[in-house]
Parts: sequence; C-alpha cells; structure tokens
Amino acid sequence: MTHHPRAPSTAQPAAAGVLVILGASGDLTKRLLMPALLNLACDRLLPEGFAVVGMGRDELSTEEFRARLRGEIATFCTRPNVDPERWSWLESRIHYLAGEFDDGEAFARLRRRVDEVAAEVGATGNTLLYLAISPDFFALVNRQLDAAGFTRLPGAKRIIVEKPFGRDLASARALNQSLLAHWPEEEIYRIDHYLGKETVQNLLAFRLANGMFAPLWNARCIDHIQISATETVGVETRGGYYDRTGVVRDMIQNHLLQMMAYVCMELPTSLDPVAVRDAKSALLASVRRMEKGDVAEACVRGQYGAGKKADGSAAVAYSAEPAVDPQSSTETFAALRLHVDNDRFEGMPVYLRSGKSLWKRGTEIVVQFRPDTTAAAGVGLAGGAAEGNLLVFHIQPFQGVEIRMQAKRPGPMFTLQRAGMRFDYADTFDAARGTGYEVLLSSALNGDPTLFSRTDFVETAWEIVQPVLDAWAATPADDFPNYAAGTWGPRAASDLLARDGRHWHEILNRDVLARTAFFAEAPALVLNNLLPAFRPLAAEAGETIVAAGAHDDEMYFVCRGELEAIDGEGARLGVLREGEFFGEMAVLFDQPRAATVRATTPCDLLVLDGDEFRRIVNDFPAVAAEFRRIAAGRRSANGE
Ligand code: BG6
Repeated sequence: MTHHPRAPSTAQPAAAGVLVILGASGDLTKRLLMPALLNLACDRLLPEGFAVVGMGRDELSTEEFRARLRGEIATFCTRPNVDPERWSWLESRIHYLAGEFDDGEAFARLRRRVDEVAAEVGATGNTLLYLAISPDFFALVNRQLDAAGFTRLPGAKRIIVEKPFGRDLASARALNQSLLAHWPEEEIYRIDHYLGKETVQNLLAFRLANGMFAPLWNARCIDHIQISATETVGVETRGGYYDRTGVVRDMIQNHLLQMMAYVCMELPTSLDPVAVRDAKSALLASVRRMEKGDVAEACVRGQYGAGKKADGSAAVAYSAEPAVDPQSSTETFAALRLHVDNDRFEGMPVYLRSGKSLWKRGTEIVVQFRPDTTAAAGVGLAGGAAEGNLLVFHIQPFQGVEIRMQAKRPGPMFTLQRAGMRFDYADTFDAARGTGYEVLLSSALNGDPTLFSRTDFVETAWEIVQPVLDAWAATPADDFPNYAAGTWGPRAASDLLARDGRHWHEILNRDVLARTAFFAEAPALVLNNLLPAFRPLAAEAGETIVAAGAHDDEMYFVCRGELEAIDGEGARLGVLREGEFFGEMAVLFDQPRAATVRATTPCDLLVLDGDEFRRIVNDFPAVAAEFRRIAAGRRSANGE
C-alpha cells in the first residue's frame, strides 16, 4: 500500500511572497482580494514576509491608495467588524503605483518597486502576478511583464488569471497560446472562484473519506444527477458584460462543469495536484459531445421578462436592463442534459441548470438514487416507498449535505414518510464566512495549483458547450422572454426532464418557504415536514389548475402570480394571489372540486399531493384548524 505523508491538521501561514495586482484600482481588489487578505491576516495565515504591490490606472500615491482601501474595507469585509490591528498590519504592507498598460516605463518602475518591497519584507523569490483586468488587455500586459523581466524573475513566480477565460473554444485556445508564449503551464493559475468554496472542496473530501457511498457511485445505483445554480438577482449593473456573455459562458462552462467534475470523476489516487487535475480533465473528456442537431432536444434556454424580485418589488425585463440591447437574444437561463460516456456512468444523465432572476438563490447538487423496487414496494409498504433516495449537496447559501430517505411513521401502523438526515456546516464548524479567495490566494502563494484550472480542463469545458453556443447563435430564440423574473424559470426546463420521466428537485429551504405568508410563523416541525413533501409547479397564463367537478385532491400554494376561481357558468368567484392557497376543500370536506381555478398570469405554485396533505392535517391539528378556518370563510363567502 502506498504511504502518503499526512497533511497538517491545522492551517499554517502561507509561504513568504509578494502579490502584484495589475488593475489594482478596480473592483476586484476592493470587493474580494482585500477582504480575503484581511481574513487571512486575522487567522494568522499570512507570513510576516508578505506584501502587496498594486498597479492601476488611477493616479494615486501609496498613501492615497491605502486610505481608499481603508475607507472601503468596512463595506466589503466578510466579518462583522474590521479588526483594526490586523488591518493596519495588512495596510502597512500595501504599495501602489499608477501606470497605463501601454506604458513600458511603468512596468519597468513596477519591476523596481517589486524588487525593493520584496527585499524589505524578506519575500524575494516568490512572486504572484494577479491579472485583475479585462482579458482584452491580457496579451499587452503579458508582453509588458515579459519585457520588464517578470518572466525571468529568480525563484518562483506565477500569473493568476480571472475568468472569463475566452468566449468560446477558439478564443480560449488563442488566450492560452498567448499566455503560454510567456509563461509555462505550471506558472499559470486560472481562477474559478467556485473552487474556493468550502462546500465545493467538500465534494472531493466527501467522496474520498466516506467509503460507504463508493460502491453506489455508478449508473446501476444512481438514476441521474442534477446540478443547479440559481440566482434571484438579475444582471444588475453588469448588463454590458452579460449581454455579450449569457449564462452558458458565465456559469455553466466554468462553475457548473467544475462541480460536475468533482461529483463524477474517478477518485484520484493521491491529492497530488497532477493527480486531482488529471482526474477532473479525464471526466470532462468523457462527457459526450453534442452535435448541433442534439441541442434542441437536450438544452433549454430562457430570458427573463418583467416580474418580481425576491422582496416582492417590481423587476424589469432583461431587455430593459441598463446596457442591454432591447432586442437581445442572450440567454439568462439554461438547462442542459449531458451524458458521461464511461463504464461507471454509462446511460446516466447529468442535468445542469443555471439562471438569473429566479425564485430562489441556491446552488445544489442532487444525486437521485434508483428506487429499490423489489423491497419496500414489493411487500406493499404504504407511503411512497417507490421513491429513490436523494443525496443533496447544499453548496450555498445553506451549506451542508443531506440524505433524503423514508422512515417509519411513529404509531401502530407500519407506514412510511419522507424524512431527512442533514449535516449543517454551521452546527459543526465555527468557521468565519470568507470570500472563497482566501484558499485560492494562500494556495497560489504556496505554489499549489490543485484549485486552479489547467489548459486542458478549460478547453475541454469549452468543447462541451460549444455546440450549444453555435446552435443558439445560429437560431436566435423566437420566444424570449419566456419566463417572468422571480419564477422557477421557463416551462421548457420542466418539460426537458418530464420527457425523460423525471422532474427537477426544487430544494426548498425554510427561508424560501417563509416568504409565503402562511408559513412565516409555522413551527420548525411543520416546515421540516412540508419541505420534502412539496412539489413545484409552473403554470402558464390561461392554464387550468383544477377543474370543477374533478375528484383529484392536491392542495396548492401560490408563490408567484395570480389565479381566478370560476364557477360552472364561468362567473368569477374570486382571485387568488401570492401567499394564498387553494384546493383544500376537496380534501378537508371530501368533495369534488367546487370551482375551476385558472392561472391569469404565469404562476409558480407549490403542490402538496392529497396523501401528503392529509398526513400534515392529521399530524398537525393547529395547521389543520387554520386551513379549516380559511376554508370555512371561503365557503360562506361563496354562499354555501
Ligand atoms: C460569477 C458570474 O462568476 O459568478 C456572476 O460572473 C454570478 O454572474 C457569480 O453571479 C455567482 O457566484 P456565487 O459565488 O454568488 O455563486
């Protein structure tokens, strides 16, 4: 058996070094890099031999630059307070010089300054060059760095590059070539900030260290995997960038494929950066390439129209956002079905989905196991035994891992109910919230490239999405906008899974449910029972949800949109709005549907199936009483 040295169990300060930030007066420095450095300084994870030298276009002295950052850090710091002593420690190590990227003299001055500062703090021989600039300047800045001798600095040196890394396969290849003309691959650190997230790194830890799941990790046991990263925000101030980009380039080509690699790759035989990155690249290489003709069947795109924000205020359509072309055919939502062509996952789909202006902010990975149709269902156990287990990786904002399972309900009957086992980071770890850049910066200082993307990974990721980009560019969407801001996304995304006999698992958290007035005050036990029982439903304007006289018995909660209740003659009995529910009477009073309910606007609903609803009513008398009170009010309002 191979013996691997044990990694230290407590964190050590990073290696001494100088961080050079090109584009230091821009947004990234104040929003992410400085807060991350401060967090590292607070946790004593920066060495005494550490300094920052920034160069930017703003004409500032070092003193002015420090004062500016001092004024901004309170806003962007991720901890409740800025520790003044730790901030001064960091601030005294920050230096600045103004310079334009086309000015060779400026780079020569930068070089002299870096040498001086490195000598002063004892950090010579370890230089990080952070390109916090638009990729349009990469080629120029690299030439200038080369001319000023940065590529020939003694000791270790690395260049850190932010996304977007190209806008398609061809431009990514060209970008790689232009970087590789100045730096060898080992010195190029391409950032994907998702790899800085604890919960993303935990995907590898989970798989490596919890052997009980290993025998199940294949298409015989797993039905499919869903990876969703949904945001409630629209494009905000980034319309100009986003309109050239779209969600496939912005999220799927990088963040979602990174997570997919961690979940689906063969486990590396060591934690050596080469082994880990080889395993990830091999996984991407085995993702089946789509032909252009496959795209219409396997991929869905969407763009948001006017709607509502999470706080209920009005949200404008994407096409009306600042700096967005009013005729834009850029997608703000996409869902893709991918396949991994290897022995382990042959035939098992992986669904990826991401979008802006959706109902919920959340990144989750759901591993849907196949149901065991021979056991519980075979012996006729009541209560949904035919469902497979779910393993849910909650990446953010809730951080944890959960197993959804079936349990015997307390009482004399031998029946089942959905239940969950949850590991919540906050219950177990006392880690302060970070930016995600802490681990990336300290790994880069230590020369550990594990969490950075290699040329082959980036290019293979582009190869995977290129057919989608090509197909969509060739045929602009004719149905945009096709989802209202603040909803679950376009209907076609549900249809994509429905065609495969599946549905998206909308992972609801308590805070999401609490936005519906009825649940705001509900006790935790009720919410814990409801969360796994709800099924989301998106309805289009004009769609009938329940028909008068029908004997079905689902109960519906209105999350977004408006519906009308109409009687047999078509007369309107009432309007149902967000936060209200309907369908309870058929269950509570065991009667056919008294009215037809039809969506008058696009609607997002949460549905409780009849059995689940009866169970909740039975188990929670106070909730049942509230339903009855509201239902009785409706009956009398309807003159019954
Ligand atoms: C960035 C995208 O890479 O990731 C943004 O450019 C997106 O559009 C962001 O909002 C999401 O990051 P996070 O960490 O909030 O999930």
